[in-house]
Amino acid sequence: MAKPRIFITRPIPSAGIDLLQDHCEVDVFPGPAPPSRAELLAGVAKADAILPLLTERIDEEVLRAGPQLRVIANMAVGYDNIDVAAATARGIPVGNTPGVLTETSADLAFALLLAAARHIVPGADYVRAGRWQTWEPQLFLGQDVHGATLGIVGLGRIGQAVARRARGFGMRILFHGGSDQTAAEALGTRRVPFAELLQQSDFVSVHTPLNAETHHLIDAAALQRMKPTAILVNTARGAVVDPVALYEALSSGQIAAAALDVTEPEPPATDDPLLGLANCLVIPHLGSASVATRAKMAAMAAENALAGLRGERLPHCVNEAVYEARD
Ligand code: DGY
Repeated sequence: MAKPRIFITRPIPSAGIDLLQDHCEVDVFPGPAPPSRAELLAGVAKADAILPLLTERIDEEVLRAGPQLRVIANMAVGYDNIDVAAATARGIPVGNTPGVLTETSADLAFALLLAAARHIVPGADYVRAGRWQTWEPQLFLGQDVHGATLGIVGLGRIGQAVARRARGFGMRILFHGGSDQTAAEALGTRRVPFAELLQQSDFVSVHTPLNAETHHLIDAAALQRMKPTAILVNTARGAVVDPVALYEALSSGQIAAAALDVTEPEPPATDDPLLGLANCLVIPHLGSASVATRAKMAAMAAENALAGLRGERLPHCVNEAVYEARD
């Protein structure tokens, strides 16, 4: 019997490919850039399964191009790149990779928080540029992280992992959205209204998924509520923050700084005004980018794909409704 065919939209760690190879014909788009729309549609047209990355928009047009598709196995925990309702309507299960990237992503969020608070990147640039002449009493004075108030927007898996790190730094932790009371209490965090979180926090760290409710959640009004000394960290999805409002807030001194792992759009244009600001640190969506975690994500996505191809429930499915319709 012919093996099913899977389309992987970029080279992924071998941990994923190795799992698939015995069971599937594996087509890997060579990259390094994502497939163009035409290349994506052509890849899907031949595939029984697709393993996309967050760079691929999987919508009705893509699903139409591959009427034989049996599973979509996103290699990411976030799945805002997929029209899940359209996939569900066609009975196609959609998989994601929760859990395995939680701690790695929280490490990165905390690294950004510390870097922005203590001017790590400008300090390193200063030394590299040969400008370090002597110890100076007022050079690159930053903000204390220990004892400061951290506001976590979205106390889900990653938000909780950030809270655990913040406890180690003796931070006071507030949160809004995304947790049950037991988890929140165990972490010593306090649920507050969104406006209060913005007003009280020295650091605001965003960990909410992107959806219709959270699109531009951090807008001009939200930024106006923040302290002039506040630092915004976004490692969730770029579009949770309104970039135009953020530029205004950073350039006018309404907030002190931002550290972004994610942007809208992604990547930003080279002349994006945010990139010209000394108080805005931007890195290229590296939240889950450790060797071990990316291997786990690849393997988890592969396991989702194989389960879908066998007609079994995906180990990690975001649209369980497809099974209800079948049962
Ligand atoms: C995810 O998995 O959603 C992350 O953003 C990838 O790092």
